[in-house]
Amino acid sequence: MDTRARRKFRSQEWFDNPNNPGMTALYVERYQNQGYTQGELQGERPVIGIAQTGSDIAPCNKIHVFLMDRIKAGIRDAGGIPMEFPVHPIQETGKRPTAALDRNLSYLGLVEVLHGYPIDGVVLTTGCDKTTPAMLMGAATVDLPAIALNGGPMLDGWWKGERAGSGTIIWESRRLLAEGRIDYDEFMGRVCASAPSLGHCNTMGTASTMNAMAEALGMTLPGNSAIPAPFRERMNMAYETGRRIVGMVHEDLKPSDILTREAFENAIIVNSAIGGSTNAPPHLQAVARHAGVPLDVTDWQKIGFDVPLLVNMQPAGTYLGESFFRAGGVPAVMGELKKAGRLHEGAMTASGRSMGETLEGWESRDTDVILPHDAPLRINAGFLVLSGNLFDSALMKTSVISKGFRERYLERPGHEGIYEARAVVFEGPEDYHERINDPALEIDAETILFIRGVGCVGYPGSAEVVNMQPPDAVLKAGVNHLPTVGDGRQSGTSESPSILNASPEAVVGGGLALLKTGDRVRLDLGACRLDALVDDAEWEARRAAWSPPELRNQTPWQEIYRKNVGQLADGGCLELATAYHKVGRDLPRDNH
Ligand code: FES
Ligand code: MG
Repeated sequence: MDTRARRKFRSQEWFDNPNNPGMTALYVERYQNQGYTQGELQGERPVIGIAQTGSDIAPCNKIHVFLMDRIKAGIRDAGGIPMEFPVHPIQETGKRPTAALDRNLSYLGLVEVLHGYPIDGVVLTTGCDKTTPAMLMGAATVDLPAIALNGGPMLDGWWKGERAGSGTIIWESRRLLAEGRIDYDEFMGRVCASAPSLGHCNTMGTASTMNAMAEALGMTLPGNSAIPAPFRERMNMAYETGRRIVGMVHEDLKPSDILTREAFENAIIVNSAIGGSTNAPPHLQAVARHAGVPLDVTDWQKIGFDVPLLVNMQPAGTYLGESFFRAGGVPAVMGELKKAGRLHEGAMTASGRSMGETLEGWESRDTDVILPHDAPLRINAGFLVLSGNLFDSALMKTSVISKGFRERYLERPGHEGIYEARAVVFEGPEDYHERINDPALEIDAETILFIRGVGCVGYPGSAEVVNMQPPDAVLKAGVNHLPTVGDGRQSGTSESPSILNASPEAVVGGGLALLKTGDRVRLDLGACRLDALVDDAEWEARRAAWSPPELRNQTPWQEIYRKNVGQLADGGCLELATAYHKVGRDLPRDNH
């Protein structure tokens, strides 16, 4: 007897399969022992997984432990069965050598859970930087109905009457410490003041960026991303998200209906408007590849460069998460972009309505914090995608380039956007810390600092180390930033105008591997190029003499990762994983 037509949900293949009563009994037996009744499991209610990314070891997402009651209540009230399960933690500030290494591991774990268990739809709890892309990547691969709920930013931090923003205050304070303007106690006081409650970073760092991306993609309810973690509205959003996922299962509204090319273009535009992190391109590339949507690193410049900066939030601006929320958050930003005709309004969202419909009536509620499209903080605020003989692609976030930096390096009369300088090259952060103050390197205000060996394969995982601080002597002379370049990433909370995510990275033979301290390099922002001014014969001789460095793995996962990971320009994905699509539709075999 084929009962498939009768069954509404995937979970019934486990819990209600008359074709294999023995297995059905086994599946039901071990779930009913925690109190679910047989009737519940077999009563044609969808099973809703809740991917829990919060824990003691993952404090940025710990708020989800407390939101779980509300998520489950929403699922229950809408007629679903909630089942929370743990996700491999990805704590940006805890995991060494870098949390980036674990994004793909967490992704793999999520794919296995969603594919292999009786789950009809899933709530993805997101927050800290890599948790959001990991969850979206997994949902894209599996393609069961999925909705993201982030934990929200921490409350605003304050120190001596000034806003103290996560991450951003660290980069500023370590500079003040190096300049001798504050002592270590003040340094620690300032930094801890930036983290006054549960939640993720309260700046427009990678966490707020990626949660804004999830919302701009349509993978959350409208207004989700900016609500601070401790606010009542955050608990309301948890409840409504729980309710909504049940509806999505009934409607069979899947990531593949939402994650279209138009959705990714909307996200790129929003990223420029919010002053989003340079980590957004690799993460969004990864989500797009797992969703099977074509997206190229050069799209970030093509689609995003001429978008103005609307959000006045650190590190590109002044305010923090609470102000952003009160000004309307992402719907207000998108409302302003919609009025300017910059969005694909027809893109579908998790709400079941189009993006245009969800933005009806939204605009900025505080124009100091979210500025109108025709009077922005900055024009042309997107990323430039550079190329040259040192790499095929690297990114530059133009919204953080300060006036002083522009004047010093990029607006010299007769040389607008063109800068030639001497290179100093570091082999990773340990080498940088050891030698940055070495007078023999002759680093001055005209030098460009390079760091290599810090990409996906090299580090492994790609480290946030490209925002290198100048030597103490240069800082004391009043120069806060030197141009820096590297095959790693930098923190989304850094205001450093670096050239980063260089791909291919040095350890796989990218041109960066051939650069030597003392070489002249030429940055031409008009042509979007960075080149070593080394003649072709010498460059080829260096290439012929180069051999890949020996890389030591400290754990089995590091070895698996290094053997399978691609470059940042392509999302830093496990390349073999990008061939798998819609695996939730491909039922696994019974287990006994
Ligand atoms: Fe986790 Fe910023 S370090 S959100
Ligand atoms: Mg970071």
